[in-house]
Amino acid sequence: MDDKTEYPRHVAVIMDGNGRWARKRGLPRVQGHRAGVLALKEIVKYSRKIGLKYLTLYAFSTENWKRPELEIKNLMNLLMEYLRSELGELKSNNIKLNILGDVYQLQAVVQQELKKAVAETAHNDGMVLSVAINYGGRNEILRAVKNIAEDICTGNAGIKDIDQHFFENYLYTRGMPNPDLVIRPSGELRISNFLLWQIAYSEFWFSDCYWPDFTTEMFEKALKDYARRDRRYGGVDSVD
Ligand code: FPP
Repeated sequence: MDDKTEYPRHVAVIMDGNGRWARKRGLPRVQGHRAGVLALKEIVKYSRKIGLKYLTLYAFSTENWKRPELEIKNLMNLLMEYLRSELGELKSNNIKLNILGDVYQLQAVVQQELKKAVAETAHNDGMVLSVAINYGGRNEILRAVKNIAEDICTGNAGIKDIDQHFFENYLYTRGMPNPDLVIRPSGELRISNFLLWQIAYSEFWFSDCYWPDFTTEMFEKALKDYARRDRRYGGVDSVD
């Protein structure tokens, strides 16, 4: 894109279709996820190159625990593999890793790997790469409500303090702008419990392509389409 001012600041992606990509090729589902990681790496690299400030990826939802044990294990292994092999790249590209979700329910070894990568990239300020793991939008909102209730009970907050800005400080995305654009490939037209609070005024971009086939050209097309959208946030462009 020529005009950088039209870029979204925050793009969130639901990486969907890995399983169907694999099935279409007669491969085990894990190969679809593996191919999905390759696509993810390209999109991270490209996002950093064009100066995107926030990229958020949905890697594992609170509902994904319903999947077969082997698939969950494979996904966690892929995540650890990614962290081990890409930490150097994240550091040299000034990318800060951020995790959204309840990591305490993950295996200790996964938690350790995440903690290390988050700590070692904490001072980077080129781009924030948020990965949603064991994340669910409804749980995130309930967690915020519980923490606010606790702060009220302990006298650290009052009911009068509660407004949208205050509430946002209790979300995993605290301090981040809301997504400007949400991309979902694979032909599904739903949100699947992703960033429910944060997407109130996000723009959406859908594609039939399975995530492993998602290219930087498609990403660029989504950004260009976004740039043509007219975001009014419930207002009007001009008064006639
Ligand atoms: C959705 O496809 C994809 C997932 C649930 C997992 C996404 C995870 C990765 C790409 C790898 C691990 C993450 C990182 C950050 C390295 P699906 O399995 O629901 O596909 P389907 O709908 O076609 O079955």
